[in-house]
Amino acid sequence: MNSPQTQGTALITGGSSGIGSVYADRLARRGYDLVLAGRDPQRLEALAAKLRAAGRKVSTLAGDLTDRDDVKAIEQRVLTDTSITLFLNNAGQAVLTPLVESDADKLDHMLEVNVMAFTRLAVAAAKAFNQRGRGTLINISSAVALAPDMLNGVYNASKAYELSFTQALQIELAGKGVQIQAVLPGAVATEIWARGGRPVEQLPQEIVMPVESAVDAALAGLDQGEPVTILSLPDIGNWDAFVAARKVLRPNLSRARPAERYSVNTH
Ligand SMILES: NC(=O)c1ccc[n+]([C@@H]2O[C@H](COP(=O)([O-])OP(=O)(O)OC[C@H]3O[C@@H](n4cnc5c(N)ncnc54)[C@H](OP(=O)(O)O)[C@@H]3O)[C@@H](O)[C@H]2O)c1
Repeated sequence: MNSPQTQGTALITGGSSGIGSVYADRLARRGYDLVLAGRDPQRLEALAAKLRAAGRKVSTLAGDLTDRDDVKAIEQRVLTDTSITLFLNNAGQAVLTPLVESDADKLDHMLEVNVMAFTRLAVAAAKAFNQRGRGTLINISSAVALAPDMLNGVYNASKAYELSFTQALQIELAGKGVQIQAVLPGAVATEIWARGGRPVEQLPQEIVMPVESAVDAALAGLDQGEPVTILSLPDIGNWDAFVAARKVLRPNLSRARPAERYSVNTH
């Protein structure tokens, strides 16, 4: 690997495996130094050592995103380390069993990571980058944000939350020099499936993307300045039509009177 001039530091949550670890490799090749966050210190250190050997500065930040103090430690790093120019909000969990068969505590933990920690860290990055007038925030959502009929409602809703949150933040920070991207992968061959109770080998292989292809496509979308990158969608016009359909609703989403079809006959 060459060591191009530094692009600053990229902080990656969930940098110990899957999508996050491939981003670590690709961002290092692009000239970023790295801070890798995750729960498993051994895996983080092994990946860090590999990337250091290739010529980049890499540190690790072990912690559990269901633990408020650990989240605050990453938040502080994002807020105060002015070398951080890119924040990859990637850590996530997926409970993939039907809700009526799911363990309620596991659903809670998933929401703590996918929603609570995700939000706190994205807001910290938004504040820091807004203040500096530059920076890149990448939020890893999912294609199921658009498909409530796939997987289960809590995972999908957490990913829909992440998409909606990202779109709102893009509007809030428009023109402030901060690039914000939501990435919506379909199924990607990582450990998340086995961890969630449904090994990826059980899926039809024509819907499963190799993790390297997923990350390279997401970075191509970032380079193209896309606000929302749907990795496997052949025709971006389909997404544009979806956005346009929502805009049609917009002027009538809040009015002083109910729609005619809800008029109550009081006579
Ligand atoms: N794979 C897919 O099909 C797919 C599709 C769409 C979106 N996504 C999204 O992509 C993101 C990355 O997932 P992946 O597929 O790469 O799965 P993965 O290989 O299981 O990686 C998940 C990462 O999140 C970290 N993480 C999980 N719980 C954590 C916690 N409580 N505290 C700290 N770190 C935690 C893990 O760290 P440790 O291992 O150190 O605990 C790991 O590095 C997730 O947000 C996921 O929802 C995945």
